[in-house]
Amino acid sequence: MQTIYSRLELNDAIDPTRNRSGSLGFVPTMGALHEGHFSLVEKALSTCDYTVVSIFVNPKQFNNSEDYDCYPRQVESDLRLLEKLGVDTVYLPNYAALFSETNPAATVDLHGLDSVLEGASRPGHFRGVVEVVYALLDHINPTHLFLGLKDFQQVLIIKNMIHNLGLPVSVVACETRREASGLAMSSRNQRLSPSQQEDAAVLYRILKNFKNKQALHSPEHLISEGIEEISRALLVVDYLAVVDAKTLSALDSFGPSAIACVAATCHGVRLIDNLPLWDD
Ligand code: PAF
Repeated sequence: MQTIYSRLELNDAIDPTRNRSGSLGFVPTMGALHEGHFSLVEKALSTCDYTVVSIFVNPKQFNNSEDYDCYPRQVESDLRLLEKLGVDTVYLPNYAALFSETNPAATVDLHGLDSVLEGASRPGHFRGVVEVVYALLDHINPTHLFLGLKDFQQVLIIKNMIHNLGLPVSVVACETRREASGLAMSSRNQRLSPSQQEDAAVLYRILKNFKNKQALHSPEHLISEGIEEISRALLVVDYLAVVDAKTLSALDSFGPSAIACVAATCHGVRLIDNLPLWDD
């Protein structure tokens, strides 16, 4: 596995694959890797001829400096894990390399998808995400981009940016990996003790309630029931919503494209999750 810090070295590593018209898979990460990331990497390895993983904790997408400072950083162990998985190249760019050029994602129209749910609570977050993803795609020029559906809104917004800027890359959206309790895997879970993680599992139970009870109750009823249950588990709810999976507009009745989304703070750690409510 090659560990690469500059765009020049990156070109040397991946040009042979590009020149053979081979497929190049890319998994962007902020490190602190867990099984959710591994499933993206495994999917990339099994789909593409060559796999690049990036590790970069992007300050532009943190609207809270404490959250940025507390974000877990463990590059050495991440590299060992990626090597074991069989990744070809890990790219570790720095801020100046990524953000010194004009970035069209800084102004691309996100059609308001970035101002609801996570975007309402974290102003500027998705603009920071699309800017870094654009810069990484520009450096790596992959054929396939692998993203996790735990960050469902992020996947929708990145797809939108790719479409609007006409970038030649296919997005492969991968299912959320969960602990046995149902808790969605996230780098932030590391900041919770095992018993706090059990508390956090209330989020998935609530989302499953939406799926199981949608024929019996309105979104409004299940949202107020869910908020009460989350609060009883001592989490602080930021939002619990049923929205259309394409437009993210709030729904007052369940329909074929409804998805339930939740964000809550558990013992000081902000967690998000979602569950599509249509049948698989
Ligand atoms: O989902 C993440 O870890 C980040 O938002 C991403 C896509 C790596 C961009 O920094």
